[in-house]
Amino acid sequence: MASFKAIIPLVLCFMVVSVSAQLSSTFYDTTCPNVSSIVHGVVQNALQSDDRAGAKLIRLHFHDCFVDGCDGSVLLEDQDGIVSELGAPGNQGITGFNIVNDIKTAVENVCPGVVSCADILALASRDAVTLASGQGWTVQLGRRDGTTANLEGARNRLPSPFENLTQLQGKFRDVGLDDTTDLVALSGAHTFGRSRCMFFSGRLNTSNPDPTLDSTYADQLRQECQAGGNTFVNLDPTTPNTFDGNYFTNLQNNRGLLTSDQVLFSTANAPTIRIVDSFAGSQSEFFSAFAQSMINMGNLGPVTGTSGQIRSNCRRLN
Ligand code: HEM
Ligand SMILES: *[C@@H]1O[C@H](CO)[C@@H](O)[C@H](O)[C@H]1NC(C)=O
Ligand SMILES: *[C@@H]1O[C@H](CO)[C@@H](O)[C@H](O)[C@H]1NC(C)=O
Ligand SMILES: *[C@@H]1O[C@H](CO)[C@@H](O)[C@H](O)[C@H]1NC(C)=O
Repeated sequence: MASFKAIIPLVLCFMVVSVSAQLSSTFYDTTCPNVSSIVHGVVQNALQSDDRAGAKLIRLHFHDCFVDGCDGSVLLEDQDGIVSELGAPGNQGITGFNIVNDIKTAVENVCPGVVSCADILALASRDAVTLASGQGWTVQLGRRDGTTANLEGARNRLPSPFENLTQLQGKFRDVGLDDTTDLVALSGAHTFGRSRCMFFSGRLNTSNPDPTLDSTYADQLRQECQAGGNTFVNLDPTTPNTFDGNYFTNLQNNRGLLTSDQVLFSTANAPTIRIVDSFAGSQSEFFSAFAQSMINMGNLGPVTGTSGQIRSNCRRLN
């Protein structure tokens, strides 16, 4: 009888915890204390053979979080009951799944069944930034993996490189992010990685030149894109593999690669202009804003408590 009485407050306590479940930086401290260094090690190793490894991982996290929150849904391939999100235009050609698999294997070897794929993407994104000379942040953890994918959501929610500022702002507001500071700060991730020519070739049309594209840079891009729309070029022509503030000075010089980049600076009277200017003037301001915005993005719709699962293979439901 005494032990039964003791259980009641415990059960009540658990209910409160699961209802108000929040992410926390110490989530794996007892269950997988070394998870951060394991993830870091695999990302570092992947960068040895692939300059784009970090860029691929942070982009996966972004595309995960924008569709029903950061629940690892972008990682799911077609299988029973799942239509993969990879069929959406915004996910065409997205890569890095092999690196996620390598991280998952390394983590499962040490702490099987404990760390979600969604959290792996959040940790790997921070490492992608610090390993490219950027500034890190404390990663919030405790997401669980969802058991659904949302192809329609991926079609509707992911921003397109051809969109104007009004449309991009709408996409950010729709997921619950700020349409000015988060939009500008997170776009700064285009300080590294590559884009295929098909996403900006319309801007290179000589009979209809884009007035917001520097003509020397346009000439350079025409050269680089001669091999066709599937050719990859640097998103940041100045320091292609370094995480720094050059993305913003590029925008000030009409050297944003995608329309969706340049509109942040070139849309008349836009509220984003002064933010581009302040990040261009102070890299440390960009770094702190980026860190905060990554935490904001990482907080979108987490699956916590007893919902969802911890996938053993990030590409498949258990
Ligand atoms: C604001 C709206 C955004 C649009 C329209 C956009 C669009 C694109 C496009 C079209 C590419 C090239 C893809 C390819 O050729 O396969 C790309 C690459 C990339 N994006 Fe974005 N993006 C946006 C925001 C973001 C955000 C918020 C992040 C991360 C926080 C991000 C990170 C990256 C990275 C790192 C790459 C290079 C990936 C690689 O090299 O594989 N982007 N983006
Ligand atoms: C944690 O992981 C790192 C990288 O894999 C390894 O070097 C280190 O020895 C590990 N530490 C513990 C306590 O397991
Ligand atoms: C952006 O595009 C939408 C849809 O094409 C259009 O209605 C809107 O006027 C455009 N906004 C700007 C600022 O160009
Ligand atoms: C280039 O622009 C002209 C003038 O707007 C247009 O007629 C033509 O179709 C465009 N060419 C390509 C390849 O898009």
